[in-house]
Amino acid sequence: MSTVLSAVAWPYANGPRHIGHVAGFGVPSDVFSRYMRMAGHDVLMVSGTDEHGTPILVEADHQGVSAAELADRNNRLIVEDLVALGLSYDLFTRTTTRNHHRVVQDMFVAVRDNGYMIEQTTSGAISPSTGRTLPDRYIEGTCPICGAAGARGDQCDACGNQLDPTDLIDPVSRINGETPEFIETAHWFLDLPALAGELGRWLDEREATGLWRPNVIRFSQNILEDIKPRAMTRDIDWGIVVPGWEDQPNKRLYVWFDAVIGYLSASIEWARRSGDPEAWRTWWNDPDALAYYFMGKDNIVFHSQIWPAEMIAQNGRGDKGGRPGRFGELNLPTEVVSSEFLTMEGKKFSSSKGVVIYVRDVLDRYQADALRYYISAAGPENQDADFTWADFVSRTNNELVAGWGNLVNRTAAMIAKNVGEIPAAGDLEPVDTALLAAIRDGFRSVGDLIEAHRQRAAIAEIMRLVGEANRYVSETEPFKLKAEEQRPRLLTVLHVLAQAVTDLNTMLAPFLPESVNAVEKALGGDRIIAPLPRIEEVEDLDGGPSYPIITGDYTQVPAWEHHPVTVGQKVAKPTPIFQKLDPAVAEEELERLAAKAEG
Ligand code: MF3
Ligand code: ZN
Repeated sequence: MSTVLSAVAWPYANGPRHIGHVAGFGVPSDVFSRYMRMAGHDVLMVSGTDEHGTPILVEADHQGVSAAELADRNNRLIVEDLVALGLSYDLFTRTTTRNHHRVVQDMFVAVRDNGYMIEQTTSGAISPSTGRTLPDRYIEGTCPICGAAGARGDQCDACGNQLDPTDLIDPVSRINGETPEFIETAHWFLDLPALAGELGRWLDEREATGLWRPNVIRFSQNILEDIKPRAMTRDIDWGIVVPGWEDQPNKRLYVWFDAVIGYLSASIEWARRSGDPEAWRTWWNDPDALAYYFMGKDNIVFHSQIWPAEMIAQNGRGDKGGRPGRFGELNLPTEVVSSEFLTMEGKKFSSSKGVVIYVRDVLDRYQADALRYYISAAGPENQDADFTWADFVSRTNNELVAGWGNLVNRTAAMIAKNVGEIPAAGDLEPVDTALLAAIRDGFRSVGDLIEAHRQRAAIAEIMRLVGEANRYVSETEPFKLKAEEQRPRLLTVLHVLAQAVTDLNTMLAPFLPESVNAVEKALGGDRIIAPLPRIEEVEDLDGGPSYPIITGDYTQVPAWEHHPVTVGQKVAKPTPIFQKLDPAVAEEELERLAAKAEG
């Protein structure tokens, strides 16, 4: 048994989340965490909303509300969506808690005390009317290289060249159209070059495990090559106060410096709420503990470079030495599990262009497990994937409903009609033992695939076994076993089917948490196969405003293994568990999208 930290990327609270987000970090981390709990590991799954930074301010200004109000509103929406999707966070919190602010400030001080924060003056763009930093990508102008209009301060999309905002001809702010002012401003920089040696050693060690996805490890090693100090503070009035600069309210910690520390602060908050405030240390200080980080590929640099660098600096393990701060020797990631991008109907998601499907809209109209199934079976696991409504309808109808749903339904229906309870088996024939053995072997193969973050292959393997069970029904034809002398055979076949469904249902628990509980009921059982998360309104532990968290008790899960059925368990006539979709759904949804794009 291992101690496993499941660290899930923190969604920005600048708006509700779309299905691209939950496909990238949400469902994969939940499937993994649920499986690891069933396999007997001690899992701590944490995340929260990421509420600082420019995108929140820009959106708040746009809506004419304060950043705090906007963050409150979106935090609540996101919490509701993630719970509706069944994501089993031990704690889903937010970055505006007092606990988070303090942990981040302590981390900053520890890093600085060890010598890894250097103060430097740079030229930065600010908005003259607000005094806030204008990040490079919020400045646009004419490209000095190709002359294209609309080049951004970080890059020109027309010619692909990297730019500095000061290179742009006639630069303007994309936020309010004003001409940015370039000022000399002091900031704290994380001394990445002094941490690069240790980062490189850690990455080489990780590479040697062969576990990381090749593109993720290669990318992480490549970006070490021209590593430079990076600013960890900003000219902005929304964010965490910089220790030592309390008298400068227009300078705050950089949102990414604070967000990644959320994994640690959320673990500490979880421990404090659990009644054992030091309990988080098992996941962070025990060198045998495992830590998996889940995110989309645009987040890799922050998880394989910035966050490990912050920890190495806090631990006092860079070229300048030092000693661990109050957090002790922190564990670096075991694996950075990054997904690729999801597009929809061939286009990049874009809320502004109306190319977007919000999680809420899907869950209002369809079953959460249908979306989870789709993401698990066809998500952007190790290559970009395209969501289409036609594909969603066909996977739901052909695989979930006609494959698994049908197997469950006819098994329960035949048992209810012919016996009323799970019958005992008579002598097993080779066809019976073959099916039962194939399914029992599935625990090993499916489990290994999930552990290796190959969830598409894992669910394909389960569906292959579902297919075998359906074929078993066609071969044994229990519906034809009507004569009295065939009764013993009928009972045996129904027993085998009940066992097959039960085992497959156990394997599906990480993927389809809501429906596996319904399948258990359909076969007359009352075990919770997959515990569901809940929302709790809590007080801030240190006197800040109250807020909603996601939490749950996920300890009572069935072990990841074959569980014999209970002979004699009453089985009633079933009602279908999965909802078949009208093929017109695909067209209706496309019309909705078109309307959004115009509106
Ligand atoms: N908010 C970021 C995004 O949505 C992810 C932050 S992950 C964290 O891209 F670890 F930094 F919190
Ligand atoms: Zn150009």
